[in-house]
Amino acid sequence: MTGFSSFDLLPPILAAIEEAGYTTPTPIQEQAIPHLRDGRDLLGIAQTGTGKTAAFALPILDRLARRRVRPGSGQARALILTPTRELAAQIDASFATYGRRLNLSRAVVYGGVGQYPQVKSMGRGVDILTATPGRLLDLMNQGFVKLDRLEIFVLDEADRMLDMGFIHDIRMVISHLPVERQTLLFSATMPKEIAHLAQGLLSDPERVEAAPSATTAERVEQKVYFVDKGDKRAALIHLLRQESLTRALVFTRTKHGADKVVLDLEKHAIEADAIHGNKSQGARERALSRFRSGESRVLVATDIAARGIDVTGISHVINFDLPNEPESYVHRIGRTARAGREGVAISLCDATEVVFLRAIEKIIRIPIPVETQHPHHSEVAATARAIAAAPVQPQNRYARSSRPSRSPREPGAQERTQRSRVRADQPSAASPAAQRSAKPRSAPQPSAGHAPSSARPPMARRKRVD
Ligand SMILES: Nc1ncnc2c1ncn2[C@@H]1O[C@H](COP(=O)(O)OP(=O)(O)OP(=O)(O)O)[C@@H](O)[C@H]1O
Ligand SMILES: [Mg+2]
Repeated sequence: MTGFSSFDLLPPILAAIEEAGYTTPTPIQEQAIPHLRDGRDLLGIAQTGTGKTAAFALPILDRLARRRVRPGSGQARALILTPTRELAAQIDASFATYGRRLNLSRAVVYGGVGQYPQVKSMGRGVDILTATPGRLLDLMNQGFVKLDRLEIFVLDEADRMLDMGFIHDIRMVISHLPVERQTLLFSATMPKEIAHLAQGLLSDPERVEAAPSATTAERVEQKVYFVDKGDKRAALIHLLRQESLTRALVFTRTKHGADKVVLDLEKHAIEADAIHGNKSQGARERALSRFRSGESRVLVATDIAARGIDVTGISHVINFDLPNEPESYVHRIGRTARAGREGVAISLCDATEVVFLRAIEKIIRIPIPVETQHPHHSEVAATARAIAAAPVQPQNRYARSSRPSRSPREPGAQERTQRSRVRADQPSAASPAAQRSAKPRSAPQPSAGHAPSSARPPMARRKRVD
């Protein structure tokens, strides 16, 4: 008997959970599973690494196995959409684990690989289809996948799936689904501007918040290292030489940046793989599986690896660049400290990035402790942050424009910007004025030219990663 017995799930599912070593349901499982067993629509918010996958997979398996129906050709009974190929494969593997005694059929559909095996696997229809939206739509348009008899629809990483990078594809997929269906949305974050879209997809939903949106994983020790931009590589190498970093996932903002970091580490005899959207699917899979197996100790990634990926034993997440979407921070650092384990998240922050740091601290609702005891500490960046954190003076918008305190670039100006418009090149502490006042005479000035032009790029420009 396990703590899962009270859910009245089919015995083969309970047996599989026990074999997986789960004894006690996590809070999101505890709270969501009874509603899902009742067939309700649901928005589930819970911290990273707290078992959201099983929270939806177990009741889905239970429902499909209790009422077995032969899916028609190309049909799926349950569809789970995810933002990345690797996450789709991982979720399919979770269904395989939890459903190993049920004999339900499954398929995975995503881009970057030949479509023939996927078309073949959909030939007789499946019980559970896990997919990324781009390839799924391709196969639907070619007539290989049909979803008009779908029973359950899940958006994992729902806020990501409903932002501008994906919403068009998601709308297209939904237009092919029957109105009568069960819809489930899960994520660790749900920004307000996306939440109303989410509500529109759900019918009389339950909202389960095991923790408020954007609450960071409980056992992750977060630290920020203030460094000058030019010292970031040296700071990273210093960190990676420490033996306590048994498995480190390093995030960069760009694909090119990830490749540059890998090359630089190799020059310093630190072996690392990279995973990002310009790599072939084969290279992506190899990099992730070498990291999973412990064959490689360091994986350098873009945000492609920020969401959902579950690799046991990541001791450290290092943000080589701070993410320009604050939610990404929550997901990135959530790759460590999963399933009750501990982990460390270190963010290297230069003076141009304090605006991102502020945006992150605002959504996670806690300040990130600063570590100064390292060889690359930058007073420039630290002071830029202190200035950004200073309370904003009330402004008289009709006062004369020559007064510096009314400049849109003044410290604290980002407090008034929309989250979606946070820009590193505009506001506050990263501004030339702020840096001048923050900077000791001899220190090099962080170059505004290196700052990313937009903290949250216009959504339409963001590339889909599947
Ligand atoms: N009840 C449980 N007991 C023990 N381990 C569990 C339990 N439920 C899930 N796990 C394990 O916890 C880990 C994290 O689960 P999962 O990937 O579903 O988290 P998540 O909430 O979806 O995280 P993320 O927000 O990062 O996607 C997995 O390794 C999973 O096997
Ligand atoms: Mg997940």
